[in-house]
This record gives sequence, C-alpha cells and structure tokens, in this order.
Amino acid sequence: MSKVKIGLVGAGNIANTHMTNYQNVTDAEVVAICDIDKGKAERLAKKYGVEKFYGSIEEMIASETLDAVDVCVWNVNHAKCAIYAMEQGLHVICEKPMAYNAEEAAEMKAVSEKTGKLLMIAFVTRYADETRVVKDYIDNGYLGDIYYAKAQYVRRHGNPGGWFADSSKSGGGPVIDLGVHVIDRARFLMGLPKPVSVYAAAYNYLGNRKNLKTNVGWIPEGATKDDICDVEDFATALIRFDNGAVIQLETGYSINDLPKSGLTLCGTKGGMKTGDGPLTLYTELNDFMVDTKIDINNLADARGGFEAELAEFVDCVLGKKTVTATAEDGLVCMKILDAIYESARTGHEVVIE
Ligand SMILES: NC(=O)c1ccc[n+]([C@@H]2O[C@H](COP(=O)([O-])OP(=O)(O)OC[C@H]3O[C@@H](n4cnc5c(N)ncnc54)[C@H](O)[C@@H]3O)[C@@H](O)[C@H]2O)c1
Repeated sequence: MSKVKIGLVGAGNIANTHMTNYQNVTDAEVVAICDIDKGKAERLAKKYGVEKFYGSIEEMIASETLDAVDVCVWNVNHAKCAIYAMEQGLHVICEKPMAYNAEEAAEMKAVSEKTGKLLMIAFVTRYADETRVVKDYIDNGYLGDIYYAKAQYVRRHGNPGGWFADSSKSGGGPVIDLGVHVIDRARFLMGLPKPVSVYAAAYNYLGNRKNLKTNVGWIPEGATKDDICDVEDFATALIRFDNGAVIQLETGYSINDLPKSGLTLCGTKGGMKTGDGPLTLYTELNDFMVDTKIDINNLADARGGFEAELAEFVDCVLGKKTVTATAEDGLVCMKILDAIYESARTGHEVVIE
C-alpha cells in the first residue's frame, strides 16, 4: 500500500480541522468526503481539492476503493458509521467521545475484534506536544506514583448550542464533550488504571443564557440561542480507580466562575500542572519546595495534536505502529461518562464493573 486512502465521514467543524492536518501527513490521501448534508461535503471537498463527495457513507464506500474512514459526525452516529465501515472491511478512526453511550461503544469494540479492523479513538489531547513532555517526566520517574489528579475543562459562557446542546444528538453536555478530553488524558498519564466507581453532580441552571449580552467564543454553523438546550451546564465528579488513585473532574459550558482548563497531577515524588499558565513541575530540591516552569515553546519535534494523531492512525493502517488510543480505552472512558450521568441523576455513587 503506497498511501492510505481515506474517506471522511462528516464535513463539519472537526472534519475541516482533520483535512487541514492531513495535508501534513504524507502517507494519507483523503479521496472522498460524505455528509448527510451533501452540500457541506461538496464545499469541504472543493476547499481541499478532493474530487469525490457523497450524501451518505453507504454511497461513498460503495463507490470508492478505500482503506479507512475517519468518522467526524455527531456523537449519536459514531457507532452506526464506524460499525458499517468495519463491516465493509475498512479501518476506522473515530472522533471522541467514542460513542453516544457505553453500550454502543462495546458494540463497536466487538465489531472491531470480529472483523480484525483497526478502531482508533481520536483522543487528540493524548497527542498534544505538552502531553508528550509530561509523559516524558512521568516515564523518567519525576512524579513517582500518581494518586490524585485534577481534571478541569470549564467554560464560563461557552454553551455552543446547535447539536452540542441537544442530547438526542450529543448524548449530553460538557461531560461527554469536554470532560472526555481531560478524563482520558489524565487516565492515560496515570498509566490507564481501571475505574471502579464514580460520584458526581450535574446542574442545568443556566441553559443557553439567551439574554446575556456576551458572545459565546465559538458556535457551530447555524446554531441559535433558541436551539434546544437539554444538557447539563456544569458537572463535577470524583472518579476512583482500582489502585486507589482518584481524578477530580470539573467540566462546564456555563458557570459563574472563571474559565479553566488543564490537569494537575500529584504523585509521591512530584506534581505537574498543565493548561492555564506555563507547564510546571512541583517538587523538592535541597529540602525546599521548588516550582520549575518548563518551556515547551521550542520543542525540537513539535507537531501539534491533530497531526500527530492522524499520522499515528495512518502508520497503524500501514502496520508500522500499533494503536495507542484503543477501542478498549474509548470504552473505559464511555463507562466513566455513563457513570457520571447516572450518579448525577441518582445522587449515589455508581460502581463500574
Ligand atoms: N477532537 C476535538 O477537539 C473535537 C472538537 C470538536 C468536535 N469534535 C467531535 O467531532 C464530531 C463532530 O463535531 P463537529 O463539531 O465537527 O460537528 P459539526 O456539526 O460541525 O459536523 C458534523 C457533521 O456530521 C454530519 N453528519 C451527522 N450524521 C452523519 C452521518 N450519519 N453520516 C454523514 N454525515 C453525518 C452533519 O451533517 C455535520 O455536517 C463530534 O463527535 C465531536 O465530539 C472533536
């Protein structure tokens, strides 16, 4: 196989980001794009000089000779598209969250195992340059055993509306959209411990903040303040793992507090803080407490998360690498997300099997 021939499924916001980054992945060739809104597929195809565009995944796969598809559709359609593609003999990279819920994620994983097709989950923050630097410190023993992590992704007035705020398409609000990023990234850096229980609370008091005179930073194409908004505004959770470690999650689209994003990882030998402000190592030196700021602006092999993620997928299809962001990791993350929603709904701790 010379180049990996890819069909892009979905032609919205993240598909555009993937297209930009595929330009730098030399072994990838996006040969076709499909979207249930065929006009969007056509616009994106023309923008990047892709010759073929279709109104459905079925039509695209039937008409083209593909090696893989890249699933960039609403969460509710991840499983449907990924399963169809694998059953047609294609490898799949699927945007986060893996699926609408853990049940669908388990089905996707089972189809991947049955068909022998790759199923990689696009956990982009794993591939960020900053994550690579943090992992380097962890692998070299600077943190010791990590037993506590703060995982934060909170916007102040950042409800994007559109399909994101419509649970029938998204499966939920910031927990499934933003929390998924920091939960997976924290768990990845903690060495992928097994989650055993979750205790959570979620709120929906602020809705789409219709009357606020401040703009949301980013909204999807066509979204308005009158869109359905039946998802949580904000959630917090304590996620407990079998090794005794916990992640404390805060995630929100809207809250009367300052926005924040990043991880704080606390280990037996040191700690690290990512996100807002410089990457910092908290440790002890000469019996004093010392904070070290790490410059990640001039990394020799800087690449950007999306490009590194898509390059890994292509290398995996070519048999040069094995997938790190596996279907199993996607499923574990979905079990945590489902447990957060269930705990918030019932007010009780939820045990994860
Ligand atoms: N990695 C990231 O940082 C990141 C950022 C944004 C979105 N996402 C994920 O990407 C996915 C898409 O989000 P988006 O912001 O691009 O949304 P979007 O609405 O901009 O684009 C999604 C597109 O999918 C199309 N679509 C829906 N169902 C389809 C189907 N069955 N077949 C073909 N096309 C279909 C829609 O018509 C739409 O054009 C979501 O799962 C989201 O969570 C990831």
